[in-house]
Amino acid sequence: MPPKTVFVCSQCGNESPKWHGRCPGCGEWNTMVEERLPEPVPGGSGGGGSSLGRRSAKAARPVPLEQVEAPALARFQTGIGELDRVLGGGIVPGSLVLIGGAPGIGKSTITGGALGNLAAAGHSVLYVSGEESPAQVRLRAERLGGHALSVPIVAETDLETVIATLEAERPDVCVVDSVQTLYAGGLTGAPGSVGQVREVAGRLMRVAKERQVAVILVGHVTKEGALAGPRVLEHLVDCVLQFEGERERTYRTLRALKNRFGSTNEVGVFEMRERGLVEVEDASSRFVEEATRGPGSVVLCAMEGSRPLLVEVQALVAPSELVPPRRVANGVDRNRLALVLAVLARHGGFALGSSDVFVSVAGGVRVDEPGADLAIALALASAANGVPLGTGGRPLAAFGELGLSGELRYVAHADRRLAEAAKFGLEPVLSPDGSARTLRQALRRAIDGAERLVDAA
Ligand SMILES: Nc1ncnc2c1ncn2[C@@H]1O[C@H](COP(=O)(O)OP(=O)(O)OP(=O)(O)O)[C@@H](O)[C@H]1O
Ligand SMILES: [Mg+2]
Repeated sequence: MPPKTVFVCSQCGNESPKWHGRCPGCGEWNTMVEERLPEPVPGGSGGGGSSLGRRSAKAARPVPLEQVEAPALARFQTGIGELDRVLGGGIVPGSLVLIGGAPGIGKSTITGGALGNLAAAGHSVLYVSGEESPAQVRLRAERLGGHALSVPIVAETDLETVIATLEAERPDVCVVDSVQTLYAGGLTGAPGSVGQVREVAGRLMRVAKERQVAVILVGHVTKEGALAGPRVLEHLVDCVLQFEGERERTYRTLRALKNRFGSTNEVGVFEMRERGLVEVEDASSRFVEEATRGPGSVVLCAMEGSRPLLVEVQALVAPSELVPPRRVANGVDRNRLALVLAVLARHGGFALGSSDVFVSVAGGVRVDEPGADLAIALALASAANGVPLGTGGRPLAAFGELGLSGELRYVAHADRRLAEAAKFGLEPVLSPDGSARTLRQALRRAIDGAERLVDAA
């Protein structure tokens, strides 16, 4: 009898007995891959999947939660402050953490560094490398310095061997780099396929919970930026961290997409250096210092999770020969830029319909909040006018959302944004308050203030 197969969507994990060009579950094209079903367990009653449920089982006894033993487990501090913060205060023993990110963004670097620090603090650790040879990992560890060289490593892609090693070594924290390279022998399908990834993660989760081994899974992301492998992986793990940033730029951000033991609002900022990923604790001061203060530059008081962050928004407006003209957005959403341009044209008196428009957030940071609207609009107006907006050698700081009728709308955490700007001497801040209720008023205030400076000079 030929082996039974099933078609599984590599995006959402939807299963179907026959192939579809478009997944009936999530609607993605060309994502269905064929996988062989596991052989039925001999001696199980019935055939196929039904053998699992038929085992005679004893009923479990429910226990009131207050009687459940929950020893207060101390979290493991990785010694990388920004990583600990994103994790909610360190690694929870026995938890499963998934770190995703584009190729070369620094996943192996940060996990290697964290393990080194943990080893130095007296915890037992293990690095499972399925991607690189021990020699390659050693080269990186030499570059990282510190205690990275004291981390024990196994280069292994066979899941059974990895699990046996975990059972034998019982480390406090183990890194598996990457989950897509491990291979479960019982299943067909190449490493990294849906069934394989699900099986690997499921088995590792069981070991993590039973043996109290905190497992950090490194995962690849697809072209679109989603974590490769089925969605089911994200449901399985306790914590999903996403590493973002552009490879050509040095700044990287780490944010939690899901965290069972902490807030998902935290963001860590890192810089890639020769000696590995260095945390940027005071990112605001860095970005304000680097702000160009020229025409088209405005400092945005953004919120990255629960943390205020000052970032420079830059705009360039240039005459265009193209129809339609170019609209390029780096670090801000294209649709937000389109909205800001429309409001600026309709309610701000700046029609840029025949100009190429470029907007970028300096340092490779992404801001995805409506509070960025006003700063983008001011940067565009300043670029179109060729007037720098700062006063007294300081860049102009702003935040606020634009409504479709040209009004300025309040955004969350105004007090914390203002406090962060004040910390760096950026006052006054243009924001939705009593004196600026519309975009037009805000533009007048910004440009008048700047022109007075130009006159005085
Ligand atoms: N000598 C160096 N100085 C500064 N940066 C370096 C140096 N060597 C490597 N890097 C940086 O480290 C990055 C690779 O980091 P790392 O191997 O941790 O990435 P990764 O996310 O694990 O990648 P992959 O997905 O390929 O495993 C490179 O993209 C490069 O930017
Ligand atoms: Mg790597």
